[in-house]
Amino acid sequence: MEIVSRVNDLKTLVRQAKQAGKSVGFVPTMGYLHEGHLTLMRQAKSENGIVVASIFVNPLQFGPSEDYATYPRDFERDSKLASTAGVDILFAPEVAQMYPRGVENMLTMVEVRRLSERLCGKARPGHFQGVATVVCKLFNLVEPDAAYFGQKDAQQVVVIKRMVEDLNMNLRIVAVPIVRESDGLARSSRNVYLDAKERQAALVLYESLMLAREKLTGGLRDAAQIIKLMNELINKQPLAKIDYISISDSETLDELVVVDRPALIALAVRIGKTRLIDNVLWEG
Ligand code: PAJ
Repeated sequence: MEIVSRVNDLKTLVRQAKQAGKSVGFVPTMGYLHEGHLTLMRQAKSENGIVVASIFVNPLQFGPSEDYATYPRDFERDSKLASTAGVDILFAPEVAQMYPRGVENMLTMVEVRRLSERLCGKARPGHFQGVATVVCKLFNLVEPDAAYFGQKDAQQVVVIKRMVEDLNMNLRIVAVPIVRESDGLARSSRNVYLDAKERQAALVLYESLMLAREKLTGGLRDAAQIIKLMNELINKQPLAKIDYISISDSETLDELVVVDRPALIALAVRIGKTRLIDNVLWEG
């Protein structure tokens, strides 16, 4: 595996692979890799000639009171894991490589309207603009044939797919199912923030999603009713504070009154100081 931190070195290596006729799979990450990220990398490897992965904690997508400065980082460990997962080129730029004029002087932003304001967008204004902008830059640098995103960040997948469609970007977006711990907790770099009690309390996210799925399977179609039951379950957990619970059309992210089509059941919950998200798709 080649490790590069400079944009020009990245471009040179990708060009060589393309000239050798290899297809390029791309996995963007913010590092502190876990089984979720590694699953994306392995799938990318199985479907492409080479895999490029990036590790970049993108300042543009963090709000002023969010965890940019303290976001967990361990490059040594990450590079070993990425190499084992089959990554050929690991791109790990400094902020100055991605934003040479400084973040404050980024004048061009990619805004995927409406979709960015739903769900997590309400509590995190500007977040999806930061995500879409850095992902667009990374796509321009890597020029991949396919890019791999986790369903863990369901709204991110919807936003990126729409950006690619609206702006005629020339690649496929592949969504990969959520990787969970054996007790159901979705893998996340932010799980390291949880102490033992909080780790236990965090199970309530998945439990509430399973409750929703059970009710849907049983024939309940009233979204407000299902959300009420999820609310009640989560509120029994003293360490949990609900940010939102949403049942939406899985493509438009419009809130549903009646669950009569494929739906995204998604939630964000604070466990202590840590904001966790999770979701399930209901195919109907
Ligand atoms: P990050 O949170 O590091 O996640 C990188 C990719 O891994 C995302 O596509 C995310 O959905 C996926 N992922 C994380 N946990 C997962 C899990 N438990 N199962 C499956 N996939 C999982 O998402 C970002 O970084 C950033 O917003 C980024 C796209 C890199 C732009 O900065």
